[in-house]
Order: sequence, then C-alpha cells, then structure tokens
Amino acid sequence: MSYKQLLDHLWSDYSDRNPQAKKIHQLFLSQGEAVQNDHIALRTFNDPRVNIEKLSQFFLDYGFEEKGEYHFTEKKLFAKHFEHQDPLAPRVFISELLTEQFSPRLQKTAKECVDSIPTLLFSSETLLSSGASWMPSYSTYKSLLQESEYAAWMYAFGYCANHFTVNVNALKGFGQLQEVNDFLEKNGFALNLSGGSIKGTPDEYLEQSSTLADKIDVLFKEGTYRIPFCYYEFAKRYPLPNGKLYSGFVATSADKIFESTNSR
Ligand code: NI
Repeated sequence: MSYKQLLDHLWSDYSDRNPQAKKIHQLFLSQGEAVQNDHIALRTFNDPRVNIEKLSQFFLDYGFEEKGEYHFTEKKLFAKHFEHQDPLAPRVFISELLTEQFSPRLQKTAKECVDSIPTLLFSSETLLSSGASWMPSYSTYKSLLQESEYAAWMYAFGYCANHFTVNVNALKGFGQLQEVNDFLEKNGFALNLSGGSIKGTPDEYLEQSSTLADKIDVLFKEGTYRIPFCYYEFAKRYPLPNGKLYSGFVATSADKIFESTNSR
C-alpha cells in the first residue's frame, strides 16, 4: 500500500456515500479542472486505542509529518494536522473528542464503541474506513446530540473521512473562494452559513467554505433514520510575508466548519 492508495480508498468510500461530493467533483471536472485536495479530515475519540496518536501513525508510516495542533475549548476537541513532502499530497487533519470532559454516560458510550472494534483493526489502516463496529441506538444518538454534535456523529458513523477539501488555489477558473461559492449555489448546493459562507480572511491566510452535510439513511436499533453525514469543503490559501502559502489551519474557522454536520 501507499498513502495514495489509502487516500483513494477513503475518497471512494466517501464519494460513494456522499452524492453531493461526487456531483460537485464531477462539476469541477466538467469545467476542465483537475481537482486537488487541500486536506482530508478524520474524527475520533481520545481513547488511547484510537486517538490522534494512533490514527496518525498510519500516515506517519507513509512519510507524513506532524505540523500544527489546535484546541477547540467550547466543543471540547483537540486536533493535529500532518503533511507529506509530496506537494500534491493533501494535508491530513485529525481531531479527537476529549471524552473525559463530558458526562459519565457519554464516556461510557464512547468506551463501548471502541470496545466493539475488532482488535485486529487497531493495527490496520482499514480501521480508518471501517465505519461503526457497533449497532447504534437512535435514542442514544439523540441524547448524545444534547451534549456534543461531534460525539453523536462519531456514534452514528464511526470511522470514515468526515470531509475532503478542494484546493481552490489549484483551480484554474476560480480565482476567489466567493466564485466557488457562487458556482455551487447556482448549481443548487446549500452552503454552511455558520459564521458566514466564508470562514477566515486573507489576513488569516486561509479562507474556507463548505456545503451542508448530505443526509443519509442510517440503520439504528430502532429502525432507519435520515441524519446529516458528510460535507465537502473548499479552501483558499494566501501567502505569508515570506511569500510561501500558509499551510496551517485557523481554529476559529475550523470551529464553525465542524458545524456543517450539525443536525439543527
Ligand atoms: Ni476541513
């Protein structure tokens, strides 16, 4: 395996289950664009069996290096991003839920989820696209939503790419992120408007926007329910005073982007 195969696998899983991502990707291709990824994002619990340290190891093994770290105090999340020397490789952004800051009930649920993952998966990159190894209950999902949208999302979906992000700098026909947003809205896609349709500013060296997550049917113990799954993101980077494009993330913007999967 190579990291390209791993990313291709994550992309095919993600785009098969997120019709809007596949449609938008096709739309760009039909405009003559070669779509590059700025980053992909993965979510997890901070359980030592599956935390950032564990998941990132699969990428470190392929030559990715740890770069920035980010704190989301209100959402009780921690994140790190990783980069590869290959300039065409997307950054990998991995966040983890700080479960000990939540109720005993949430902590118990998160532990039970991780307990149900087959042991062999912990040492296999297949874990990253293994979904939920547990059968979720809709009533538990609803109660998790009260505490943390992120926890509820992890509980319903488990391990997969949460989103891919189009590198807007690499698009030939779209100079500004606003042009991408206009193009998407003209084609009928709804954007996440939390914090405005564009998060971040050129002064922060990074602008991001995203669609609202597709809703998909999920089988719960109680039956099938339609809930928000994944979104597609778009990022435009600006040069630092030294002339190099900024390569990190902006926590205040990412904080709003997380809300693209909110159920409300
Ligand atoms: Ni992102």
